[in-house]
Amino acid sequence: MADLRIKIGSVDFKNPIFVASGTYGYGTEVSELADITVLGAIVTKSVTRYPREGNPPPRIVETPSGMLNSIGLANIGVEAYIKKMIPLYEELKTPIIMNIAGSTDDEYCEVLELTELVSSNIVGYEINISCPNVNAGGMEFGVDCDLTEQLTTRLRKLTDRLLIMKLSPNVTDIAAIGVAAEKGGADALSAINTLVGMSINTTNKKSNIHYGYGGLSGPAIKPVGLACVHKIYQAVDIPLIGIGGITSADDVLEYVLAGAAAVEVGTANYRDPNIGTSIIVELDTLLDQNDIGSVPEFVGKVELGS
Ligand SMILES: Cc1cc2nc3c(=O)[nH]c(=O)nc-3n(C[C@H](O)[C@H](O)[C@H](O)COP(=O)(O)O)c2cc1C
Repeated sequence: MADLRIKIGSVDFKNPIFVASGTYGYGTEVSELADITVLGAIVTKSVTRYPREGNPPPRIVETPSGMLNSIGLANIGVEAYIKKMIPLYEELKTPIIMNIAGSTDDEYCEVLELTELVSSNIVGYEINISCPNVNAGGMEFGVDCDLTEQLTTRLRKLTDRLLIMKLSPNVTDIAAIGVAAEKGGADALSAINTLVGMSINTTNKKSNIHYGYGGLSGPAIKPVGLACVHKIYQAVDIPLIGIGGITSADDVLEYVLAGAAAVEVGTANYRDPNIGTSIIVELDTLLDQNDIGSVPEFVGKVELGS
């Protein structure tokens, strides 16, 4: 059996398979449908300073090899999250990474500060500076190196827990944003969030998403995710978490070869909430078949050229 354990920052995880933000609720909802105890970690949906209804429907549409979503960060807000969700985590055997979103620096900081005030077994924070589905904030930070560095620096001062900055592919130079987050003190980077996309009903000429654009996810974006991870890997020294279109252990290995120390499975959970568990079993076999003793020895080992 291969050794699936990995370490990111100072946190040990039993394997590198996490579930991605927005596809597994707050981590407490799925336990009746899937064996969540085997997952490396669960990343929660984005939590904001105040509750958000999200965008009006239609806000999800299937596309070739993927889906578009425009959920718009619907969530209960940090105060209700602290009151209702954090106590439930005491019973969970799976590490929780809380994902945070905001419209301003202050909002991100307040959410993190308020969460740090209560005792919890959250192992870290993933900061969503890459949401394409809101008017203000989110992606504005993730497209600007200075804003990314400033926000990371502020958040770093507020917590000793794992700090992961989640990057957007909707930029000219994702590696430069990664470098800015590393300078600000991030422990790790995750990439990618969704790509801006559109889908149109030709019969009634209406957009299939209420506000026109949504975030594209699923297998269709895996090549983009891999290229982004590979670019960032060459520019930073901190660990990367690969996201985008993962549905199998082979996909995981591709991300690892591109430079990811761990991965998050997103859209695939909608088809099968147990897919993370299946991938862990499959990964173990795949590593054995390839005589790979552990995941870290494979990170970034893709060879270019013929
Ligand atoms: C319905 C849906 C909701 C999402 N909500 C969030 C969110 O709240 N915060 C966030 O950082 N990413 C969110 N994402 C993005 C995913 O975490 C992930 O980065 C993206 O979907 C790419 O991975 P995938 O192709 O495996 O789905 C969401 C994705 C989907 C499909």
